[in-house]
This record gives sequence, structure tokens and C-alpha cells, in this order.
Amino acid sequence: MTTPKRYLVTSALPYANGLKHIGHLAGAYIPADIYVRYLKAQLRDVVFVCGSDEHGTAIPIQAMKEGTTAQAIIDKYHPIIEQNFKDLGIHFDIYHRTSSPLHHETAQEFFTVLNNNGDLEIKTSEQYFDEATQTFLADRFIKGTCPNCSYDNAFGDQCEKCGKSLSPDELINPVSTLSGNVPIKKETSHWYLPLNKHEDFLREWVLKEHKNDWRANVVGQVKSWVDGGLQPRAVTRDLDWGIQVPVKDAAGKVLYVWFDAPIGYISATKQWALNHGKDWKPYWYENDTQLVHFIGKDNIVFHAIIFPVMLKLHGNVLPANVPSNEFMNLEGDKMSTSRGWSIEMDDYINDWIKKENGGESMADVLRYYLTAIAPETKDSEFTWKGFQDANNSELVSVLGNYVNRTFVLMHKLCNGKVPPFHNDLIDDLDKQLIQDIANTKLKVETLLEGYKFREAQFEVIDLARKANQYMQKKEPWILAKYLPESPSNQHLIDNALHLCLQLTANLAILINPFLPFTAKKMLHMMKVVEKLLEWQNAGRVDLLKVGYSLREPQLLFRKIEDEEIANQLEKLKIKKTKVEENKSVEIEKEATVVLKPEIVFDDFGKLDLRIGTITAAEKVEKADKLLKLEVDLGFEKRTIVSGIAMHFKPEELVGQQVTVVCNLAPRKMRGIESNGMILLAEDKSGKLHFLQTNGIIDAGSTVS
Ligand code: 2FM
Ligand code: ZN
Repeated sequence: MTTPKRYLVTSALPYANGLKHIGHLAGAYIPADIYVRYLKAQLRDVVFVCGSDEHGTAIPIQAMKEGTTAQAIIDKYHPIIEQNFKDLGIHFDIYHRTSSPLHHETAQEFFTVLNNNGDLEIKTSEQYFDEATQTFLADRFIKGTCPNCSYDNAFGDQCEKCGKSLSPDELINPVSTLSGNVPIKKETSHWYLPLNKHEDFLREWVLKEHKNDWRANVVGQVKSWVDGGLQPRAVTRDLDWGIQVPVKDAAGKVLYVWFDAPIGYISATKQWALNHGKDWKPYWYENDTQLVHFIGKDNIVFHAIIFPVMLKLHGNVLPANVPSNEFMNLEGDKMSTSRGWSIEMDDYINDWIKKENGGESMADVLRYYLTAIAPETKDSEFTWKGFQDANNSELVSVLGNYVNRTFVLMHKLCNGKVPPFHNDLIDDLDKQLIQDIANTKLKVETLLEGYKFREAQFEVIDLARKANQYMQKKEPWILAKYLPESPSNQHLIDNALHLCLQLTANLAILINPFLPFTAKKMLHMMKVVEKLLEWQNAGRVDLLKVGYSLREPQLLFRKIEDEEIANQLEKLKIKKTKVEENKSVEIEKEATVVLKPEIVFDDFGKLDLRIGTITAAEKVEKADKLLKLEVDLGFEKRTIVSGIAMHFKPEELVGQQVTVVCNLAPRKMRGIESNGMILLAEDKSGKLHFLQTNGIIDAGSTVS
């Protein structure tokens, strides 16, 4: 295959409607960044574009949640997400915005070309309309009862409770979320992209031409869509947030977000070209451009079916590949910001990078682990323990340890300078190591060009592993011990450390696409400039000049302690509990107050309620929610197990007066017999409060 003349690499444009989590990072951003850093080290002509997706209903919905405007939402999240990517070493050539005038213009021009060429169709259909607000309702603005699980608050496109994809017509008793009214059906016209007319093209192009060089998940999804028969797809919407449809009399209609967002790759390239005095056109019109879209699994249909059809009709290049990952789960469950089960990039940066001096190396640790477990062919799982292990037993013990030992020994045994290599003393171990370096370079480049990032990174660490074994066999520190009686040992020491240093320089080049902050640190230690990182230098063993003095070593990575991991696990649980609590408050707000069935006085009279004082409190082992309380009732002391551990710390409770149901039958919880129940008030937010007494009352006082 001939090398393409230029590359245009894109990462899916994230919605600027909230923080993004590490699952997103692993899917469309880290692999793209690795690929681009590799291409740039190859000195190829490459532009890497991304930016905020600022249209669609996701934005006004977030605005409603935060009680602000759509514009305020995108202005808030765009800079945060952009900075998060920077802090994690994702180096776009441009991070653009789809709200920019240049993008609006570009998307409208694109639509106009297709419309003028007769490639779009206009169709009329009935859609839900809210008479109170005089608006057609996007799927997300309609709520109703889920036909699948009977959940009352399902959206028009999906039930958040059972996860089923829905259409508004399937909802039972639909209501508008804008006014709370029952919507009516009203006719509206829209422009459609007749995908059904392009099935043959897609069969030929994806299912034949790219059958073997695209990932199986991508080809598989295209096949199942095409085999199922493609339908015309609406590319406009009735909405007041988005890009106006550039046709007379189309007021109130905007381009569908999935029509305009991928065109964002083109407008970003235009803006990049403007910023750098370059021509953007060859990147989108010349066939010797290699266009690569990095995306997450849920974006496959848009990048492998819809956008390519649009590009073909518009006369642009088609993507050479659309690498898409499967999903990354988190600690045994699906990663999801809305369910509170996620690690946001912003949180990781605050907890691990900003807190310590030289914290950038922690950006590399995350990059490393996410690549090591990248869900390239099947779903994978992030665990904090796995993160700790990857750091401690691979980055610290293999890569960091090797580089550190090499530098320490070189300072100790070779005066801090690159020692000479004595060719007459070369042995099989040396030859093998030189061969390993050359082989690794070839393997890594083949893997990277084939979008196999996980294996490529493994090969680099494996080279460091081999290098550690080489040093272990050469034992320069033992040779040094016998220097007085065998001065010729110095030549053996020189040879071993000469090769170890050349290998370190190679490791810097090979690891650079994956761990750019680490590569920089290594350059600093070797006192060499960035030019060393050019890919053509990999495989060579004359990179560091004999006699050149090098700096003292710096540790590349630090050990991660068990306590840090325990804290993160705790934080995750707390976040989930908070989100669940907030959700239940929302549901509660919507629900009307329903009283329990009526009772007679005798029912109430059966309760023996008394005042007691908590004298001791402790957590119950292996039960997150339970506390074991000792309660003094005046006439006797009781053990009561209560599910309040998420609300109160044990030490806050001692001395607190509580109302106790004393005649409740004993019950065993986690092996502890509980004799009674304490009464608390729960407010709307789910917070618990003690029932206040007016001052301290004698323990044992009755309540009636
Ligand atoms: O799924 C998403 O987050 C979309 N905002 C991705 C858009 S990718 C491209 F088309 F811009
Ligand atoms: Zn449901």
C-alpha cells in the first residue's frame, strides 16, 4: 500500500452539555491521540481535529436542568472539556465549536448542495405538537408511560428505567415536558436523506472493500443495518436551537444535530487552515488523503453509514477507516454519568494530576491503563485495583525501574557519561537485545497502522521487560565489585550500560505516542531535544553519543497506595448514592402525597414508644448502611441495628436522644440481634433528622 499524502484524523465531537467521563476518553480520544502522535513522529502531514457538538436537544435539556440558557450551557462546558483534554495530553490541532459562524455557514452550504442536486426528499408527517408553547416536540420533550416496564417518566426516545429505545408514538399517555399538557398531532414537513437509495454503495464500499481492514464491530453493524433495509432519514427538525435550514419559508426548522455535527470536522479543518495560513481543501477533496474517524460504539451508524453517504453526495473523500471501540464498564457496571457511576475526566485531573508536583505523569498512568484495557474487540472493565496494578507492577516496576537503574548505574559506574561500546566484546545477549529493539520498532508500527493500540503498547513495555532481564543477566554491579582484580571488567560494564542507555532512548521514542509526558521527562534526563523522538530514530543503537553527560535520574512513576484506591472506591459509591437520592427527590416532587391506609386508635396504642440516649455507635462490618447502636432506655440498655450509616458518623451519635419503638419483635441483622427501632424524620431530599425534644428528657420517658 502506498503511503497517503496527508491524514485528517477526527475524534467524535463531544456534546458540550456536561462533563465527559473516562469511558469517552478511552473510546474516541486516547486512541486517536496515539495514532496522531505516531504519524507526527513519522513526519507525515496530519491534522487532528475535534471540538464541541453544541446543537441538538441535549443542550436545551441541560439548560432546563440547570435553570439557564442553551448558550450559557455551551459556554460553560466547552472550555472545561477543552482544558480536560489538554491536561490528559490529548493534543488536537484545533478544538472547534459547532456554534461558530464558520460552522453554521459550512453546514448550510453542505445542505444546499445536496438539496440543489436533488439528493434530499421532502416528506410530510404527523408529529406531536404542544399547543401551549406552539412548538413541535422533539422526542426528548415528550414523557409518558413506558410500554415495556410501565415507568411513568419514560422519554419519547428512551425509557431511562428499563433502557428500551422508544418512539414517541409508543408512549402511553404522552405529555409535553415543556408545558405539562397533552400534545396534539400536527402535520409538518421535513427534508430526508434517502439512505435506501445508497444501499448498493454501502454494500460495495463497507461490506466488500473494507470487509477485512475495518474492525468487525463496525462492519457487523453496517451489515445488520443494510440487511435490515435502510429508510429515508430526516435531516431537519422543528426546534429553536440549531442551524437554520437555509431555505426560504423554513423558519423554525433547523438541521438535525447528526447532520451538522460531522460537518463540524470540515469546519474545524477550515478554521485550522485559516489559523495557520494553509489550504483546507486537499484534506477533504483529494483522494490521497487518509481520513480516519475515531468514535465510540454508539456513533457507528452515523460515521459508517450516514456521513459517508453525505460525503459521497457532496463530492468529498470517504473515510479510510472508522475505528470504534466497544464499551468500557466500571467496577462491574455500565459507565454512566446520569446514573452517577462514572469517573469524570475533570475529577481524575483534580484528584490525581493537580494535587501533586509533577502530576502530569498521572495523566500518563490513566492513558496507559485505558490503553492496556482498551475495548478494541469486546467490552472491557475499568477497576481501581486494575489501575493500581497496572501502575505498580508495569509502569513502576518494569519501565520506571529499568530507566532508573540504568541511570543510577551509569552515574555510579561510568561517571555520568555515555560509555563507549567495545565491539570486540559483543556477545549473544547484546546481539539479541539489538535485534529486539529493531523488531519492536517494526511490530509497533505495524500494529499502530492497523489501529491495534493495546497490543502496540504491550510490545513497548515488553521491550522494557526484556531490557530488565538483559541487565539482570549482565549484572554490571557485580562486575564492578571485582574491578580491582579484573580491571577489564570496566569494558563489560561499558558495553552493558551503553546498550541499556541506547535502549532507553528507543523506549522514549516508542512510548511517546502512548505516554507523552513520560517521553518528555526521559528527554530531559538524557539532555536531548525533541527531534530524538522522530520515529525514524527508533531501532538505532547510536542515538546517544559516547562521552555525552546525562542528568541524574528522576523517578518516572510513583507507587499508588492501597489507601488511595480505597478512597476512590468510596468516592464512587458516595457519588452514586447522591445521584440516586437526587433522582428520588425529583420523582417524589412529581408524585402526589399518598397516605397509608387508615388505622384505628387501638392500632396506634399497641406501639410502646420511649425516649432513649445513644451511648455507643459503631459500623457493622461488611454492611455499608448499618450502624450498631447501644441505647440507654433508663430501665434497661438495648442493642439496636439501624440503617443510617450513610447519613451519620458513629461519633456524631453518642449522647443523642432518640425516640425508640421498644416493643418491636427482635430481629437479626448481619448476625446481630436488634431490639427495637429508632424513629427519624426524612425530608424531601432524603436527609434524615432526629425528632427534636425540648431539652434533655429522662431516658425511658414514654411518647404517646
Ligand atoms: O455522541 C456524541 O457525543 C456526539 N456528540 C458525537 C458527534 S460526533 C460527530 F459527528 F461530530
Ligand atoms: Zn421502561
